[in-house]
Amino acid sequence: MTITIKNKDEIEGMRVAGRLASLVLDYLTPFVKEGKTTNQLDRLAYDFITKDIRSIPAPLNYNPSGDNPYPKSICTSVNNMVCHGIPNDKPLRKGDIINIDVTIIQDGWHGDTSRMFQIGETSIAAKRLCALTYDAMWHGICVMGPNIPILEIGRAIQKFTEAQGCSVVRDYCGHGIGRNFHEEPQILHFASPEARTILVPGMTITVEPMINAGRKETKGLPDGWGVVTKDRSLSAQWEHTVLVTETGFEVLTLSEGYPPLPPFVTSTKT
Ligand code: MF3
Ligand code: CO
Ligand code: CO
Repeated sequence: MTITIKNKDEIEGMRVAGRLASLVLDYLTPFVKEGKTTNQLDRLAYDFITKDIRSIPAPLNYNPSGDNPYPKSICTSVNNMVCHGIPNDKPLRKGDIINIDVTIIQDGWHGDTSRMFQIGETSIAAKRLCALTYDAMWHGICVMGPNIPILEIGRAIQKFTEAQGCSVVRDYCGHGIGRNFHEEPQILHFASPEARTILVPGMTITVEPMINAGRKETKGLPDGWGVVTKDRSLSAQWEHTVLVTETGFEVLTLSEGYPPLPPFVTSTKT
Protein backbone atom coordinates (compact mmCIF):
# COMPACT_ATOMS: atom_id res chain seq x y z
CA MET A 1 0.00 0.00 0.00
CA THR A 2 1.19 3.53 -0.70
CA ILE A 3 0.89 6.80 1.20
CA THR A 4 -2.36 8.58 0.41
CA ILE A 5 -2.60 12.36 0.16
CA LYS A 6 -6.10 13.62 0.91
CA ASN A 7 -7.75 16.44 -1.08
CA LYS A 8 -10.02 19.13 0.36
CA ASP A 9 -13.18 16.99 0.37
CA GLU A 10 -11.37 13.95 1.72
CA ILE A 11 -9.89 16.05 4.52
CA GLU A 12 -13.40 17.19 5.43
CA GLY A 13 -14.39 13.51 5.67
CA MET A 14 -11.43 12.87 7.96
CA ARG A 15 -12.39 15.88 10.13
CA VAL A 16 -15.89 14.49 10.66
CA ALA A 17 -14.62 10.98 11.47
CA GLY A 18 -11.98 12.38 13.85
CA ARG A 19 -14.44 14.51 15.77
CA LEU A 20 -16.86 11.59 16.12
CA ALA A 21 -14.14 9.24 17.43
CA SER A 22 -13.30 11.80 20.10
CA LEU A 23 -16.99 12.19 20.93
CA VAL A 24 -17.17 8.45 21.69
CA LEU A 25 -14.49 8.91 24.36
CA ASP A 26 -16.38 11.93 25.77
CA TYR A 27 -19.48 9.73 25.96
CA LEU A 28 -17.66 6.86 27.70
CA THR A 29 -15.85 9.04 30.26
CA PRO A 30 -18.51 9.11 33.02
CA PHE A 31 -18.82 5.30 32.82
CA VAL A 32 -15.10 4.60 33.31
CA LYS A 33 -15.40 3.95 37.05
CA GLU A 34 -14.60 1.36 39.72
CA GLY A 35 -16.76 -1.76 39.30
CA LYS A 36 -17.48 -1.29 35.59
CA THR A 37 -16.19 -4.09 33.38
CA THR A 38 -14.46 -3.41 30.09
CA ASN A 39 -17.16 -5.53 28.41
CA GLN A 40 -19.77 -3.08 29.73
CA LEU A 41 -17.73 -0.20 28.27
CA ASP A 42 -17.47 -2.08 24.98
CA ARG A 43 -21.25 -2.54 24.84
CA LEU A 44 -21.84 1.15 25.62
CA ALA A 45 -19.37 2.11 22.88
CA TYR A 46 -20.95 -0.28 20.35
CA ASP A 47 -24.42 1.12 20.97
CA PHE A 48 -23.29 4.76 20.88
CA ILE A 49 -21.22 4.26 17.72
CA THR A 50 -23.82 2.32 15.78
CA LYS A 51 -27.04 4.02 16.99
CA ASP A 52 -26.22 7.56 18.16
CA ILE A 53 -23.58 8.59 15.64
CA ARG A 54 -24.41 6.00 12.97
CA SER A 55 -20.82 4.98 12.42
CA ILE A 56 -18.99 1.65 12.24
CA PRO A 57 -16.64 0.47 15.03
CA ALA A 58 -13.50 -0.28 12.98
CA PRO A 59 -11.94 -2.83 15.39
CA LEU A 60 -14.97 -5.18 15.33
CA ASN A 61 -13.97 -8.16 13.15
CA TYR A 62 -10.81 -6.34 12.01
CA ASN A 63 -8.64 -9.16 10.69
CA PRO A 64 -5.27 -8.08 9.29
CA SER A 65 -3.67 -11.50 9.87
CA GLY A 66 -6.57 -13.26 8.18
CA ASP A 67 -7.13 -15.84 10.93
CA ASN A 68 -7.94 -14.00 14.17
CA PRO A 69 -10.58 -11.28 13.84
CA TYR A 70 -10.69 -8.75 16.68
CA PRO A 71 -13.87 -9.60 18.62
CA LYS A 72 -14.87 -6.22 20.15
CA SER A 73 -15.58 -2.59 19.25
CA ILE A 74 -12.90 -0.89 21.35
CA CYS A 75 -9.51 -1.75 22.85
CA THR A 76 -9.20 -1.54 26.64
CA SER A 77 -5.65 -1.86 27.96
CA VAL A 78 -5.35 -1.94 31.76
CA ASN A 79 -2.19 -1.34 33.86
CA ASN A 80 0.68 -3.43 32.37
CA MET A 81 -1.24 -3.93 29.10
CA VAL A 82 0.52 -1.99 26.34
CA CYS A 83 -2.21 -2.06 23.68
CA HIS A 84 -5.01 -4.02 21.97
CA GLY A 85 -6.53 -5.29 25.22
CA ILE A 86 -9.72 -7.22 24.47
CA PRO A 87 -12.60 -6.12 26.75
CA ASN A 88 -13.57 -8.74 29.36
CA ASP A 89 -15.75 -9.29 32.44
CA LYS A 90 -13.23 -8.21 35.07
CA PRO A 91 -14.42 -5.13 36.99
CA LEU A 92 -12.12 -2.11 37.07
CA ARG A 93 -10.55 -1.53 40.48
CA LYS A 94 -9.44 1.54 42.39
CA GLY A 95 -5.88 2.39 41.36
CA ASP A 96 -6.15 0.94 37.84
CA ILE A 97 -5.11 2.92 34.80
CA ILE A 98 -6.78 2.13 31.49
CA ASN A 99 -6.31 3.15 27.89
CA ILE A 100 -9.47 3.18 25.80
CA ASP A 101 -8.78 3.20 22.06
CA VAL A 102 -11.65 4.08 19.74
CA THR A 103 -11.65 3.88 15.96
CA ILE A 104 -14.80 4.66 13.98
CA ILE A 105 -15.63 4.69 10.28
CA GLN A 106 -17.92 7.45 9.04
CA ASP A 107 -18.68 7.73 5.30
CA GLY A 108 -15.70 5.49 4.62
CA TRP A 109 -13.23 7.61 6.63
CA HIS A 110 -11.46 6.44 9.80
CA GLY A 111 -10.96 8.44 13.02
CA ASP A 112 -8.60 6.84 15.56
CA THR A 113 -7.95 8.18 19.07
CA SER A 114 -7.24 6.97 22.59
CA ARG A 115 -7.00 8.43 26.09
CA MET A 116 -5.89 7.26 29.53
CA PHE A 117 -8.33 7.05 32.44
CA GLN A 118 -7.53 6.58 36.12
CA ILE A 119 -9.84 4.66 38.43
CA GLY A 120 -10.20 6.48 41.75
CA GLU A 121 -7.00 7.44 43.50
CA THR A 122 -3.96 6.01 41.65
CA SER A 123 -0.31 5.76 42.65
CA ILE A 124 2.07 8.66 42.13
CA ALA A 125 3.91 6.51 39.56
CA ALA A 126 0.70 5.84 37.63
CA LYS A 127 -0.32 9.52 37.62
CA ARG A 128 3.12 10.51 36.45
CA LEU A 129 3.18 7.92 33.64
CA CYS A 130 -0.23 8.97 32.30
CA ALA A 131 0.75 12.63 32.36
CA LEU A 132 4.15 12.21 30.76
CA THR A 133 2.75 9.96 28.01
CA TYR A 134 0.20 12.69 27.24
CA ASP A 135 2.98 15.25 26.99
CA ALA A 136 5.12 12.85 24.91
CA MET A 137 2.32 12.52 22.34
CA TRP A 138 1.94 16.29 22.11
CA HIS A 139 5.71 16.80 21.79
CA GLY A 140 5.57 14.44 18.79
CA ILE A 141 2.60 16.25 17.24
CA CYS A 142 4.13 19.71 17.73
CA VAL A 143 7.08 19.06 15.40
CA MET A 144 4.75 18.12 12.51
CA GLY A 145 4.64 20.18 9.34
CA PRO A 146 5.41 20.06 5.62
CA ASN A 147 8.92 18.86 4.70
CA ILE A 148 9.55 17.47 8.19
CA PRO A 149 10.93 13.90 8.18
CA ILE A 150 8.72 11.62 10.29
CA LEU A 151 11.91 10.73 12.14
CA GLU A 152 11.50 14.07 13.96
CA ILE A 153 8.22 12.91 15.55
CA GLY A 154 9.92 9.86 17.03
CA ARG A 155 12.97 11.85 18.03
CA ALA A 156 10.89 14.37 20.00
CA ILE A 157 8.92 11.63 21.76
CA GLN A 158 11.97 9.52 22.62
CA LYS A 159 14.04 12.46 23.88
CA PHE A 160 11.28 13.69 26.17
CA THR A 161 10.35 10.20 27.43
CA GLU A 162 13.83 8.92 28.17
CA ALA A 163 14.72 12.15 30.00
CA GLN A 164 11.94 11.14 32.43
CA GLY A 165 13.40 7.66 32.93
CA CYS A 166 10.69 5.84 30.99
CA SER A 167 10.90 3.82 27.76
CA VAL A 168 9.27 4.02 24.34
CA VAL A 169 7.74 0.80 22.98
CA ARG A 170 9.36 -0.19 19.67
CA ASP A 171 7.13 -3.12 18.67
CA TYR A 172 4.02 -1.05 17.76
CA CYS A 173 3.73 2.27 16.00
CA GLY A 174 1.44 4.96 14.59
CA HIS A 175 0.28 4.83 10.99
CA GLY A 176 -1.19 6.59 8.02
CA ILE A 177 -5.00 6.55 8.14
CA GLY A 178 -7.85 7.35 5.78
CA ARG A 179 -10.15 5.02 3.87
CA ASN A 180 -8.06 2.27 5.47
CA PHE A 181 -7.52 1.75 9.21
CA HIS A 182 -3.76 1.26 8.82
CA GLU A 183 -2.00 2.88 5.86
CA GLU A 184 1.58 3.77 5.14
CA PRO A 185 3.75 5.27 6.47
CA GLN A 186 4.56 3.71 9.83
CA ILE A 187 5.00 6.37 12.50
CA LEU A 188 7.71 5.12 14.84
CA HIS A 189 7.76 6.80 18.24
CA PHE A 190 11.55 6.70 18.50
CA ALA A 191 14.35 8.05 16.32
CA SER A 192 14.90 5.34 13.74
CA PRO A 193 17.13 6.02 10.72
CA GLU A 194 14.65 3.93 8.71
CA ALA A 195 11.93 6.56 9.18
CA ARG A 196 12.88 8.47 6.06
CA THR A 197 9.43 9.56 4.83
CA ILE A 198 8.89 13.32 4.59
CA LEU A 199 5.58 14.81 5.73
CA VAL A 200 3.49 16.36 2.94
CA PRO A 201 0.31 18.50 3.26
CA GLY A 202 -2.76 16.28 2.97
CA MET A 203 -1.22 13.31 4.78
CA THR A 204 -3.21 12.06 7.76
CA ILE A 205 -1.36 10.01 10.37
CA THR A 206 -1.73 8.87 13.95
CA VAL A 207 0.66 9.74 16.75
CA GLU A 208 0.13 7.15 19.50
CA PRO A 209 3.17 6.56 21.70
CA MET A 210 3.11 3.61 24.09
CA ILE A 211 5.32 4.45 27.07
CA ASN A 212 6.45 1.93 29.70
CA ALA A 213 7.44 2.84 33.26
CA GLY A 214 10.05 0.08 33.05
CA ARG A 215 11.74 -1.57 30.08
CA LYS A 216 10.56 -1.23 26.48
CA GLU A 217 10.12 -4.94 25.69
CA THR A 218 6.63 -6.35 25.16
CA LYS A 219 5.01 -9.76 25.05
CA GLY A 220 1.91 -10.87 23.12
CA LEU A 221 -0.90 -12.66 24.96
CA PRO A 222 -2.28 -16.06 23.86
CA ASP A 223 -5.49 -14.36 22.63
CA GLY A 224 -3.43 -13.09 19.70
CA TRP A 225 -4.24 -9.42 20.37
CA GLY A 226 -3.37 -8.20 23.86
CA VAL A 227 0.18 -6.99 24.44
CA VAL A 228 1.76 -6.59 27.89
CA THR A 229 5.08 -5.27 29.19
CA LYS A 230 7.62 -8.06 29.53
CA ASP A 231 8.76 -6.78 32.95
CA ARG A 232 5.10 -6.28 34.06
CA SER A 233 5.67 -2.54 34.54
CA LEU A 234 2.84 -0.06 33.91
CA SER A 235 2.26 1.16 30.37
CA ALA A 236 0.34 4.17 29.05
CA GLN A 237 -0.75 5.45 25.63
CA TRP A 238 -2.51 8.44 24.10
CA GLU A 239 -3.46 8.78 20.45
CA HIS A 240 -4.54 11.46 17.99
CA THR A 241 -5.26 11.44 14.28
CA VAL A 242 -3.45 14.44 12.78
CA LEU A 243 -3.49 16.17 9.37
CA VAL A 244 -0.36 17.71 7.86
CA THR A 245 -1.26 21.19 6.56
CA GLU A 246 0.60 23.76 4.40
CA THR A 247 1.63 25.58 7.55
CA GLY A 248 1.94 22.83 10.16
CA PHE A 249 -0.64 20.42 11.52
CA GLU A 250 -4.29 20.11 12.49
CA VAL A 251 -5.36 17.65 15.20
CA LEU A 252 -8.54 15.97 13.99
CA THR A 253 -9.60 13.91 17.03
CA LEU A 254 -10.83 16.67 19.33
CA SER A 255 -14.21 17.37 20.92
CA GLU A 256 -15.76 19.30 23.77
CA GLY A 257 -14.81 16.78 26.46
CA TYR A 258 -11.14 16.65 25.51
CA PRO A 259 -8.79 17.19 28.49
CA PRO A 260 -6.79 20.44 28.88
CA LEU A 261 -3.79 20.84 26.57
CA PRO A 262 -0.26 20.75 28.01
CA PRO A 263 1.11 24.26 28.71
CA PHE A 264 3.62 24.03 25.82
CA VAL A 265 0.87 23.47 23.23
CA THR A 266 -0.36 26.83 21.98
CA SER A 267 -2.74 25.58 19.29
CA THR A 268 -4.22 22.32 17.96
CA LYS A 269 -4.09 23.79 14.42
CA THR A 270 -1.00 25.66 13.30
N1 MF3 B 1 -6.75 1.45 17.35
C1 MF3 B 1 -5.51 0.74 17.21
C2 MF3 B 1 -4.53 1.70 16.58
O1 MF3 B 1 -4.39 2.74 17.10
C3 MF3 B 1 -5.62 -0.50 16.43
C4 MF3 B 1 -6.46 -1.52 17.07
S1 MF3 B 1 -6.63 -2.86 16.03
C5 MF3 B 1 -7.72 -3.81 16.88
O2 MF3 B 1 -3.94 1.51 15.57
F1 MF3 B 1 -8.12 -4.71 16.05
F2 MF3 B 1 -7.10 -4.30 17.95
F3 MF3 B 1 -8.71 -3.07 17.27
CO1 CO C 1 -3.90 4.05 15.55
CO1 CO D 1 -6.12 3.54 18.00
